[in-house]
Amino acid sequence: MGLCRCVCGVCACLLAVPLLLICSVCIPEVELAYIRFVETYAISIPPLRLILLILGQVPRVWEHGPLGVGPVWNPRIVYAVNGYETGILPFPNPANFTRGYMLARVSHEQVRAVHHNPHLKRDAKRFIGVETAKVPKGYFSEGVLPTLLQMNTDDPLRYAHRDLLSAAMPSIAEYVDSVPEFKPLPDISPKDLVQDISWHLKIPFPKTVSTMVQNLFAFTFYRHAFGVELSNDELPLLREWLGIPGKLFLGMVSEAGAKHCRELAKVFEDKVAASEFGQRFMQEAERRGMNGIERLRKTVFEFSFAGFGGDGPGGALATMKMLRFIQKSPAKYVPLFQRDPEAFVLEVIRMQGGGGAGVNPWILEATQTFTLGTGNEVTEFAGNYGATIALHANHDPAVFGGPSADQQYAMSFIPGRENADRLLSFVGELREIRKCPNMTGCDAAPRFCLGTFMLQRIMKQIGLYYIQGLEETHHPIREEM
Ligand SMILES: *[C@@H]1O[C@H](CO)[C@@H](O)[C@H](O)[C@H]1NC(C)=O
Ligand SMILES: *[C@@H]1O[C@H](CO)[C@@H](O)[C@H](O)[C@H]1NC(C)=O
Repeated sequence: MGLCRCVCGVCACLLAVPLLLICSVCIPEVELAYIRFVETYAISIPPLRLILLILGQVPRVWEHGPLGVGPVWNPRIVYAVNGYETGILPFPNPANFTRGYMLARVSHEQVRAVHHNPHLKRDAKRFIGVETAKVPKGYFSEGVLPTLLQMNTDDPLRYAHRDLLSAAMPSIAEYVDSVPEFKPLPDISPKDLVQDISWHLKIPFPKTVSTMVQNLFAFTFYRHAFGVELSNDELPLLREWLGIPGKLFLGMVSEAGAKHCRELAKVFEDKVAASEFGQRFMQEAERRGMNGIERLRKTVFEFSFAGFGGDGPGGALATMKMLRFIQKSPAKYVPLFQRDPEAFVLEVIRMQGGGGAGVNPWILEATQTFTLGTGNEVTEFAGNYGATIALHANHDPAVFGGPSADQQYAMSFIPGRENADRLLSFVGELREIRKCPNMTGCDAAPRFCLGTFMLQRIMKQIGLYYIQGLEETHHPIREEM
């Protein structure tokens, strides 16, 4: 009896310690102290530091879904260690995961300097964290590599491909002749969507982006981008295809997997190639001396991966975050959305992100030593990797903190705020992107996201559909008089 009670007591303690740890980081002061502690004492063991940082982010799962544990969504990580002054934060290095770091830029000034560098170098051999030569043929269709993500900013090929997109894909521009009317999926009513998001707020597992939101986004996205409608048979295949980069990242590769991936990609390549858009696109590519079908495959991959993203970073995640955000307090947020949908969408993207963490990795031009907020010194070497975290830059009080550069103000949701168009989620500042004559890019914004404007249009459409669902359900959402 006594022994049993003692053993149970030990069990309870073993369970209680991590629970206590996880719960206590919900208290803001404890959270900041915890981050400072980890950054000070675990910094010399990169994997341990990462695990401890992730543990401290577990409560964020209810804010951002399972991906919320990544140290890229919570600006308090930067704030805790004076990162807005030092401008940098160590980040896992895909080339040296166990012993070294790459230094991520996190202040607005530092991130902007990288995103706007006209000669920024990328590693053509690496797609996100994956060394592409080391995976079996088939994971990337012929003509897809290197993607726009991997090419140096001043690479003439990159410019040529972007210019082709800007010529053959008028739907990506800021002002377009016609925007497709929103078309719902027959089996997703506005009420279903509200119910789906309400559930996800309570139980944000196992997906970060629910199947319903992935389907609705993918369907809308393919209509806007390529003018084609995906069927109910194709949507699950698209979700499956977009799950594969995550597997590659975790090293789960095989010959059979490569073959299957090739088959999945082919469904969408063929579908777009057969469309009116695809025909025009390939003609324009050939006219420019390029291989039409290869350019088309590349575009389908890039847009599906970076624009939609499946249950990972991408436009669907940004949309999911917006819907969850609205659902947290419809009475407060629906009137704000209705007053100015564009400003609302932009502010949600600033604060919640959705696409990739930033531009990473890129190649350092110079060797530099930095002193972190904790007093530790770190050196980065020319030729090695660096990273950026856009969401952190989007909370920099120097730009978003109002007249007194206040952190709390930078962390508040204020649609239409001053400098709203200086967010770095679209790589280039929106303010600068608008200076370019077209989507190819220009000196003011040499390397920006091709989906900048299309994504905002799609989020607005899905947001309005969602609000229709809220209005149909019981909630009175208008502000009380
Ligand atoms: C990994 O990082 C450590 C610490 O910065 C460094 O000493 C080592 O040379 C790096 N290894 C490689 C392969 O870059
Ligand atoms: C985009 O603008 C640049 C600079 O004016 C121009 O050289 C290029 O031809 C334009 N591209 C398209 C597709 O209009």
